[in-house]
Amino acid sequence: MKIITIASLKGGVGKTTLSIFLSLALLSAKRKILLIDLDHNNNLTDFFLRNEEIDTIQGKSIGRVLKGSLAITDSIFTTPLGVDMIPSVPELSQIAFELLFDTAAPLRFDSMLRNLKYDFIIIDTPPAISFELSCGLHVANTVLCPVGYSRWNIQGYSILESKVKRAGGDKLFIGVPSAVTERRVETLREGGLSLTKAVIHKSEAIASASDSGKPLKEGSTSADEFKILAKEIAKI
Ligand SMILES: Nc1ncnc2c1ncn2[C@@H]1O[C@H](COP(=O)(O)OP(=O)(O)OP(=O)(O)O)[C@@H](O)[C@H]1O
Ligand SMILES: [Mg+2]
Repeated sequence: MKIITIASLKGGVGKTTLSIFLSLALLSAKRKILLIDLDHNNNLTDFFLRNEEIDTIQGKSIGRVLKGSLAITDSIFTTPLGVDMIPSVPELSQIAFELLFDTAAPLRFDSMLRNLKYDFIIIDTPPAISFELSCGLHVANTVLCPVGYSRWNIQGYSILESKVKRAGGDKLFIGVPSAVTERRVETLREGGLSLTKAVIHKSEAIASASDSGKPLKEGSTSADEFKILAKEIAKI
């Protein structure tokens, strides 16, 4: 089992979009997937569980698992698109205060996840150094950082990369060119960042699928890009 955390200190770079369509691409390659939403803005939860009752989501949210008031196996939803997921709610923004003196929480989270039976656990995180992001980085085998091409995107990448390296261990940190044009990919590659070969180009199909809670059309260019990325990630 491999845990992939999607992270960037920059907002709006495509973390949630990558979590959604990478997980669906891995699912279509017959892998068993668990998604975890660690962002209190809960866009990932909204994509996969938009028809679920709010109260049901509240009762099974990741915050309750982190606090130890709910067993992780009781928090898992089977979503209509076929991946399993542990949702987030806006109250997750309070978790750092609630667990201020519970320094073992990230360690507990790691051992809970390692007892589950999945091929991949994919974790979406908020765009700021926070307790939730630290938990996501702590448990990760691989950290994927979407990078577009702008000076600020690259700064967000470098700070996160050094944070992951400082944490030690054998975590792999790699950028995924996301929402980019071909010309910008070339510029990014010249910048010496560690990047996947696979590229997710800017596409209206991706923007509208993520907005409408629908999968990408099978056989479309964008769906194929995520499949190529999934193959590369599965080999790492
Ligand atoms: N490859 C792409 N082509 C076109 N639009 C994209 C692409 N990737 C993401 N987007 C769009 O960009 C916006 C931001 O994407 P997303 O929500 O995935 O970013 P994020 O990093 O998770 O943001 P936040 O930091 O707020 O959580 C969304 O409207 C999404 O549909
Ligand atoms: Mg997001």
